Formats: sequence, structure tokens, C-alpha cells
Amino acid sequence: MNKRSAIIGVGSFLPEKIITNHDLSQLVDTTHDWIVSRTGIHQRHVAGDHEKTSDLALAACKKALKSSGRGVDDLDFIICATTTPDQIFPSTSTRLQGLLGMSKGFAFDIQAVCGGFIYALAVANNFITTGQAQRGIVVGAETMSRLLDWNDRSTAILFGDGAGAVVLEARDGAGSLADFGILKTFLHSDGQLNDILQMTEGPGSGTCFGTMIMKGQDVFRHAVEKLGGAIEEMLSDTGLTADDIDWFVPHQANERIIDALVKRFDFPSHKVIKTVSLHANTSAASIPLALDAAVMDGRIKKGDLVLLDALGAGLTWGSALVRWG
Ligand code: ACO
Repeated sequence: MNKRSAIIGVGSFLPEKIITNHDLSQLVDTTHDWIVSRTGIHQRHVAGDHEKTSDLALAACKKALKSSGRGVDDLDFIICATTTPDQIFPSTSTRLQGLLGMSKGFAFDIQAVCGGFIYALAVANNFITTGQAQRGIVVGAETMSRLLDWNDRSTAILFGDGAGAVVLEARDGAGSLADFGILKTFLHSDGQLNDILQMTEGPGSGTCFGTMIMKGQDVFRHAVEKLGGAIEEMLSDTGLTADDIDWFVPHQANERIIDALVKRFDFPSHKVIKTVSLHANTSAASIPLALDAAVMDGRIKKGDLVLLDALGAGLTWGSALVRWG
């Protein structure tokens, strides 16, 4: 008998305030058509002045818990993937633990930028499959708007705020791909590529967080290459083909990156979940936001085979194969 981590609940939250491409074109020299043609993004949600990352995360966690039918007391852990914690310390996940009223277990943050949700999912899966925990929440939550220079058109157009969460629970499996839950994860990073997307400073280098700089075309090229490699790795390790995948749920950074992967693997477009047009790149929140949208509208159903992948600054990237339900 093998232990699996089944995803038994999902929830997400987007702040109310929306900034459209047209709004952005009032701030910087850009146009709606340029942004759509290069990224597929139409709008982004932005946290209000008093909304913190933990507020977004809390709303997503409550919805995920509700959809799971479990309560806070059933949880053994919270892992929050975020690059935009409320404070440098304590962690956003311990803040969430307090806000949720969870009095046992453990909570910590993972920082792998846009790769964060896959990293957090893989770590959570290890706790559950090794029997160290029965149940927990993985939440990706970001207020990327706070890191942006709103006068820099090359990056301001790309990001948004939001949160998404899943509840994981231990389930017995046979050790085969027919099991429910997380079937496989792969993680990668390449620190030689730190400089193609970075914040220039941080508390350890003397200032709060500096400025975001990005070599856009390099990021684009590496994203297509490395995410393609990650999908290839997952398919060849499991012996599956792209036809076996019911839903491809990629990191929602840029529609052109998603389309390049879809073309390479010949995923039919009706099996690809895309939400980037509605909320831009929400970093670690993007995959659970897309998952929640597709579960809520009935596309992803119990028993479906779902392939997730993401890449972010670092570079960090990875993939996860999940049988839903
Ligand atoms: N509006 C109008 N023009 C713009 C804008 C803008 N917002 N930004 C740049 N331009 C101009 C440039 O100045 C340049 O003008 P020039 O030809 O007169 O010099 C021209 O448009 C082309 O610029 P490029 O940078 O070559 O544009 P490109 O087609 O590469 O698109 C983009 C830029 C959208 C950033 C693209 O490189 C990209 O998507 N890269 C991936 C970045 C990404 O997704 N980052 C997110 C984090 S990592 C992750 O999550 C995967």
C-alpha cells in the first residue's frame, strides 16, 4: 500500500480592484493591443491599501477548506508559497495559522517565486507520503503589485495580485498511475540564471527590496525550453503521452509561453486551462487560481489526470502530475 496526497479542496481569491490595460496606458507608454498581443493579459487585480498577502491567502484557504469539508482543526500544516510576505518575519504562513485559529501543527513559507506553488506542493506531498502529516493546506499568495515600478512598462504590465489554495489529505493508493492524488513531482533550479529576473536588493543586501529587472526575451526563451523539458521528463518517466493528460494547467504568466508548450506537445486547446487574461501573472498563486476556475466551472472532475507546471525567477521550475479527487 502506498500513501498518496489527494487534493480534496480548492479555493481562490482575487482582490476587488481591477486595473485594465486601458488604465495602464494612462500611466505608461503602452496600449491594450500591445499587451494583449505580447502576453494575452487584459487586466490584473490589485490589493487595496489595507489588504495584505495574508488577507488574500486567508480568503483562499477558507474557501479551500469549505470545499474540502474539513475544518481548521483537521489540519497538520500550512505551507505558503510567496515572494511577497506581509513581513520579513514572522512567516506569512504562521500569520495565517493565527488568523485561521489553528492551534496545532506547523507552518512555514516557501520562496521560489513563480515556481513556488509546485515547490510547496512537492514538499507537502513528501510530508504526507512519508506519514509525517495527514492533512494540510498549500497556498500560493502574492501581492506582486507592491514590488512593481508602475512607471516601468516592461514589467508593470505583467503582474497581478491573488491567492489560491488546495487542501491535501493522505489516501491509500496502489502505487500506480490509477491512484488518486499527487502521482509525481519534479523540481529544478538553475542559479546561473539569477540575473535574468530579479529584485536588485533585499534586507540581506542592505535595503528593503530594490527594483525589479527582467531580461524579458531571455525569460521567455528559458521558460519555453525548461517547461518543455519538464513536461518531457514527466511524460517519459511515467510512460504517458500528451493524449493521456486530461487537463494541462500551466503557470499563468504569458499566453504566448503557454501556446508554445501547447504547440510543442500538441495538447488540444480544449484541454488547456488559461486564466492569465483575467488576472495576469500572480506568481505562486497562478496555478491554484487556474485550478479553482476549472473546478468551479466543472471542467476538472474527479478522476481526471491533471498536469501542472511552472517556472519563476531563480530560475526555479517544476511539474506535478495529479489525479483529481
Ligand atoms: N508597451 C509597448 N511597447 C513596449 C512595452 C509595452 N508595455 N514594453 C516594451 N515595449 C517595446 C520595447 O521598448 C521595444 O521597443 P523598440 O523595438 O523600439 O526597442 C519593443 O516593445 C519590443 O520589446 P521586447 O522586449 O523585444 O518585446 P517582447 O516581444 O520580447 O515582449 C515581453 C516583451 C512581453 C516582456 C516578453 O519578452 C515576455 O513575455 N517575456 C517573458 C517575461 C515573463 O513572463 N516574466 C514573468 C515572470 S517569469 C515567469 O513567470 C515565466
